[in-house]
Amino acid sequence: MQPPSASPCRGGVSWQGILLAVSLLTFWNPHTTAQLTIEPVPFDAAEETHVLLLVHNASQNTIGYYWFKGNTTEDSHEIISYSILTQKINTGPAFSGRETLYTNGSLLFMNVTKEDTGFYTLRTLNNELRPELATGEIRVHGESAQGAPSPDLCPGS
Ligand SMILES: *[C@@H]1O[C@H](CO)[C@@H](O)[C@H](O)[C@H]1NC(C)=O
Ligand SMILES: *[C@@H]1O[C@H](CO)[C@@H](O)[C@H](O)[C@H]1NC(C)=O
Ligand SMILES: *[C@@H]1O[C@H](CO)[C@@H](O)[C@H](O)[C@H]1NC(C)=O
Ligand SMILES: *[C@@H]1O[C@H](CO)[C@@H](O)[C@H](O)[C@H]1NC(C)=O
Repeated sequence: MQPPSASPCRGGVSWQGILLAVSLLTFWNPHTTAQLTIEPVPFDAAEETHVLLLVHNASQNTIGYYWFKGNTTEDSHEIISYSILTQKINTGPAFSGRETLYTNGSLLFMNVTKEDTGFYTLRTLNNELRPELATGEIRVHGESAQGAPSPDLCPGS
């Protein structure tokens, strides 16, 4: 007789997951007063759901938002950008078609997959052309998420 299985799959958020989510790293230019930050909502997402990367403390005189996949601002990793001056949204090489950039700089990821897990970097530019950087993390768990304590117990992966 087997006890009813208390599946680790259903809990979703592992201890390591919480630690990683909390370790959200942020970089900012020391010349600015308020700290530009990225808040992923939710911290730990299920596959095929949406994740919103909320931008906090962008400076009042921001004229552009540039999002990159990874902890980088290399052109080849640019996902999407928005210029407030020209009111134009441009997609970059790392654009997957599932990202929506709002005019307040926040980035919506639709239908996320485990491959979307990782760091995302936002670079803003203000009207003195001074850049600010912030990095946030998206975590997506599936049936056999890396953070799950016992992936072998999860059926259907
Ligand atoms: C905004 O910046 C201020 C000053 O650096 C900081 O105290 C506050 O926590 C920041 N807010 C967010 C949401 O990051
Ligand atoms: C930005 O815009 C999005 C979409 O309208 C909204 O969900 C979000 O709360 C707004 N605020 C911030 C701080 O991103
Ligand atoms: C991002 O890159 C910088 C410089 O290469 C490094 O100092 C920092 O630790 C990295 N952060 C993350 C979250 O990987
Ligand atoms: C989400 O992505 C998966 C594969 O990545 C695809 O099979 C599915 O149709 C997508 N769902 C929506 C609502 O776009």
